Amino acid sequence: MDKLIIKGGKKLAGDVTVSGSKNAALPIFISTILAPGMNEIQNVPFLRDINTTIKVLESLGAEIQGNGNIVRIDTSRLSGHEATYDLVKTMRASVLVLGPLLARFGKARVSLPGGCAIGARPINLHLKGLEALGADITLEHGYVEARARRLKGARINFDISTVGGTEQLLMAAVTAKGETVLENAAREPEIVDLADILTKMGARIEGAGTDTIRINGVSELQAVTHSVMPDRIEAGTFMTAAAITGGDIRIHNMRLDHLDALVFKLQDAGVEITHKDDVVRVKGPKRIKSINIKTRPYPGFPTDMQAQIMALMTIAEGASVISENIFENRFMHVSELLRFGADIIVEGNTATVKGVKKLSGAPVMATDLRASASLILAGLASDNTTEVSRIYHLDRGYEAIEKKLAGLGAEIKRVKED
Ligand code: EPZ
Repeated sequence: MDKLIIKGGKKLAGDVTVSGSKNAALPIFISTILAPGMNEIQNVPFLRDINTTIKVLESLGAEIQGNGNIVRIDTSRLSGHEATYDLVKTMRASVLVLGPLLARFGKARVSLPGGCAIGARPINLHLKGLEALGADITLEHGYVEARARRLKGARINFDISTVGGTEQLLMAAVTAKGETVLENAAREPEIVDLADILTKMGARIEGAGTDTIRINGVSELQAVTHSVMPDRIEAGTFMTAAAITGGDIRIHNMRLDHLDALVFKLQDAGVEITHKDDVVRVKGPKRIKSINIKTRPYPGFPTDMQAQIMALMTIAEGASVISENIFENRFMHVSELLRFGADIIVEGNTATVKGVKKLSGAPVMATDLRASASLILAGLASDNTTEVSRIYHLDRGYEAIEKKLAGLGAEIKRVKED
């Protein structure tokens, strides 16, 4: 296993380019199941989760060319309709094949994803929505068995805002008979990107990005070419890296409008953010001011930036109250941040962070994807050296982050863990 060695204290400076969005690319890859033929996906990030998604599609019979920036996916001759436990336990987003397989073949067998470090993350709303579209769903031996002659449009109202649930039902509904309305739908930009490729394929979708999405079923979809949107969480992580090191960086190929909630909070903390076209300049202040954070579904403050903003708050002036309202166990980075000398108290879903003058580097362990990023940020701001182990979590969602940070002047390198 690899680990990262970081010598902190450097102010970041220079230019960095954001890669394509992991959380847009995964459902976009899976949507090609609906469109037989050669689909070309561009601006693809080079990530472990992308490789896992490629394995899932190949296990269904897709032919895939390339695994770098451009990936061609031929779904003309799909033979399977099963996503097995070993693939789904590696990446829970594999469950998104359920809807497209049901829509195209009328049957699917997908492993239940099981638990995850940050929470139980059930898929009950996915299954309830598919049943509303006329699917027969049974659960046995840890698998979802789904059958449907032809899915029929329905009104579906989500009890809670679910990104995956909205994506699942959007993909299931595009070739269902009649109209489907998704109420209390998630509004994340990644859903808009998925709706964009589905529309290019021939789907009829209105309202993606709002909380009510209307879909009129069509009989078939065509294979297309599509470029994945920039990764807003990677961009937000680099913005926070500039803030925590008092640096001054320019970030290329990002959509600032995808990060309003984060931008307003960073500006409240004293960070200067300006932009021209798709280049965003981020300048950290001498001392960060503390701010309070509540994670919320989009356009609220993103839960995927909670660990990173907490790292920033550990050196802010004053106290910050951070509440995590999306997942029930997303504070695992706290015990590792305490090893840097941070002052954090957790009560239920709320963490109170009292800013300290300086963090001191320490050996720490990554526990999940975004927790890994927060430990790197703390390491960048610490004096002396930090070692972050178990960074396979990191490689799921950040493309060569140590190279990108080194390009901004950070002293960071990846070494083999002995
Ligand atoms: C997506 O996960 C993202 N992953 C997550 O990013 C992100 O944190 C999350 O959305 C919230 O924004 C991908 O897009 C691949 P949800 P998803 O369904 O779809 C509950 C990262 O770091 N829920 O919006 O699984 C669920 O337990 C990852 O990149 C149900 O109860 O999230 C959670 O508490 C982490 N029943 C809440 O809803 C369901 O059927 C939001 O989950 C579905 C969800």
